[in-house]
Amino acid sequence: MPKAKSNPSHRIPRVAIAIMAAGKGTRLKSKHPKVLHEVGGKPLLAHVIAAATKVVPAKDVYAIIGHEADRVRQAVAHTGIGFVLQAEQRGTGHALMLAREALAPYDQVIVLSGDAPLISPQTIRKLGDFHSSKRPAMTILTAQLQDPTGYGRVIRKSQKSPDVKAIVEEKSATPAQRKIREINSGFYAFDAKLLFAHIDELNNDNPHGEFYLTDLAAILGKAKKRVMAVAATDPHEILGSNTRAELVDIDQRIRMAKCRQLMTDGVTIFYPQTCVIDCDVEIGADTVVEPFVQILGKTRVGSDCRIRSYTVINNSVIGDGVLIRPACVLDEAQVMKGAVLGPYSRLRPGSEIGEGAHVGNFVETKKTRLGKGSKANHLTYLGDAEIGDGVNIGAGTITCNYDGEHKHTTVIEDGAFIGSDSTLVAPVKVGKGAYVGAGSCITDDVPPDSLAIGRARQIVKEGWVKAKGAGRQKPD
Ligand code: UD1
Ligand code: CA
Repeated sequence: MPKAKSNPSHRIPRVAIAIMAAGKGTRLKSKHPKVLHEVGGKPLLAHVIAAATKVVPAKDVYAIIGHEADRVRQAVAHTGIGFVLQAEQRGTGHALMLAREALAPYDQVIVLSGDAPLISPQTIRKLGDFHSSKRPAMTILTAQLQDPTGYGRVIRKSQKSPDVKAIVEEKSATPAQRKIREINSGFYAFDAKLLFAHIDELNNDNPHGEFYLTDLAAILGKAKKRVMAVAATDPHEILGSNTRAELVDIDQRIRMAKCRQLMTDGVTIFYPQTCVIDCDVEIGADTVVEPFVQILGKTRVGSDCRIRSYTVINNSVIGDGVLIRPACVLDEAQVMKGAVLGPYSRLRPGSEIGEGAHVGNFVETKKTRLGKGSKANHLTYLGDAEIGDGVNIGAGTITCNYDGEHKHTTVIEDGAFIGSDSTLVAPVKVGKGAYVGAGSCITDDVPPDSLAIGRARQIVKEGWVKAKGAGRQKPD
């Protein structure tokens, strides 16, 4: 488009965001790639991508991946971003060298770090807007930290100057430079042309033997190009996670922010410091979360629920007005409104607990639908079962769903009554309104409205003890 080229100031700049995510994360001492370590229940990289894709479309976001590239790609492929492979990780500067082909067609390149997940879309925009208005070759997002240890220090041209002379990495810094509290966030905006005109001037003459992207500040300065700094509004947004302690610190920040947001939205969370609530969880107003509760993954909890202590809920959907008593474990389960669970209920994947139903202590369900108002209150296993409305499952009932090779279904129709300590050997069906006597082993279908008893008849031998002549010794 020659016309646009001749008048670039009137053209909307094409902005790409590159996320550096190829590093191994040596300091985490982990067999998993650094950017897949989770904070707030999501991989580090997923947080950065979420922020980036709020600023530019996913097609203009590129993750530079390398260490365990396939795993990293797989974990975030659904976001629709592009990828650049840095097979050998020879430093942040080297990462950008390899992204030249993907990024050169753009006007502005914003660089983010895959291990700094607190970055907000607002701050990315602030960095991009500052860069677009001042038009330097490079803008560095900086922050003042109480403890700058481990970060690159920003050397300004003079104390009040907005211009930067160089970034010095901690390892190469002099004692005086180490005292500088203004640090390099690792987030930058570049003029794409100038970035790639000078990137080959980087060398790896430093304690790590790596190509540091940070050296571009001095290189561009020497080439008489402008390098500027803009401060992050909230210095915490730039925190990186190089160590386990830093990961945990960031995780806590994300979770506390999540709890505060939920409380703003009308949820009571007692002792939020003790709760683990993932960032994608949704909870309705007037729900109360007691101490030491975990609500994880994509769980959605309705309004007016009470979740009592020591409960762990993962990827589940809970309706309104549900009471979850202490120490329940729910995984990929669905609970309809007004149901009551626990204490000590275990709902495994595919459990569907109907409206107003009760699941009590030491009851385990798996791939089971328990109908409206039905009750399974004590010591029971319900697996691969279709249970209708208004059914009573007696204490100690077990669906024998597995024959050693295959799983089979138990069907219990509306209004049936299963006596305590019954075993239902699947495939088997108990008809509408039927009764099963306590202690039965049911192997054949029970027709509606009938009574099935599947147990040995009781024998009573009167006077047996005396006749045997061996009365038990009376206890003292
Ligand atoms: C970097 C900066 C430092 C800054 C800090 C902010 C450099 C040389 N230093 O240090 O000035 O204060 O970030 O957090 O840039 N990566 C690659 N390929 C590589 C090496 C790293 O993609 O070859 C990725 C990493 O996966 C990581 C990011 O780049 O996501 C930053 O690398 P890291 O080693 O964590 O740099 P820092 O030592 O934190
Ligand atoms: Ca880092």
